[in-house]
Amino acid sequence: MSRTVVLAWILSARLLLGWGVEGHRLAVRIAGGMLSPAARLEIGRTLGPGESLAALASWADDVRTYRKETDPWHYVDIPLDSTGFDRKRDCPRGECIVAKIAEFRSQWRNPALSDSKRREALLFLIHLVGDLHQPLHCANNHDKGGNDVHVVFFHRPTNPHAIWDYGILDHMPPEDQLFTAMRAMITSQREAQWSRGTVEDWANESFHVAGSVAYAGLPQVSGSQPMRLGEAYQLAAEPAVREQIAKAGVRLAMILNEGTR
Ligand code: ADE
Ligand code: ZN
Ligand code: ZN
Repeated sequence: MSRTVVLAWILSARLLLGWGVEGHRLAVRIAGGMLSPAARLEIGRTLGPGESLAALASWADDVRTYRKETDPWHYVDIPLDSTGFDRKRDCPRGECIVAKIAEFRSQWRNPALSDSKRREALLFLIHLVGDLHQPLHCANNHDKGGNDVHVVFFHRPTNPHAIWDYGILDHMPPEDQLFTAMRAMITSQREAQWSRGTVEDWANESFHVAGSVAYAGLPQVSGSQPMRLGEAYQLAAEPAVREQIAKAGVRLAMILNEGTR
């Protein structure tokens, strides 16, 4: 393969995945700092020595390419013109992110399951709670959650889905600085507020961010030119990205702490 082909392949492999590695790692790092001693111990025992939750945050995206049946577990296509998640319409066979989070949540809590089953449940859980908070993983406008729309973002050809997976984050401060800022957003009042609700509620919240920010900022297509997005789109999106990732961290910690002290 020529270098150009290899490069094109590497870049295209980033399409369709969840938050980029950084977004998932941030959510998991936030959760990691909020674990109960018992949850921390159990996670450490399950992962084994030298393994960290943050380093495994995108394991589920890595296996997605060769475990094809897991692909739909990363999102739910809630029609943009609907009022929100409808299980019969959006998740009829239980193969969507909402159903899978529930399934892996109960597997992680089930001591009767084998260590390897529970380890895999944990790895899917830490990743999928992040994906649920990527607005375009909970919305669809006949475009695979923005994947099929050609746009130009800061002079580069891309699509809205990729912009939300990693494009906005790539134009934000470095990871450690974001981590500190997100931790500071999590006041005890917000923590209590964000910990409420069901996985369905969180999907609906993400869906509403998709409608009010991600899709709302896309001007109507004019002619055959891809729309050009930049500073204005970035600035409108940043607060939503910060809040969604912080919420993912808080809610993941809550799920992992369940039944522990
Ligand atoms: N494929 C189809 N819909 C999708 C979505 N909302 N997010 C990611 N991949 C998808
Ligand atoms: Zn994605
Ligand atoms: Zn994913």
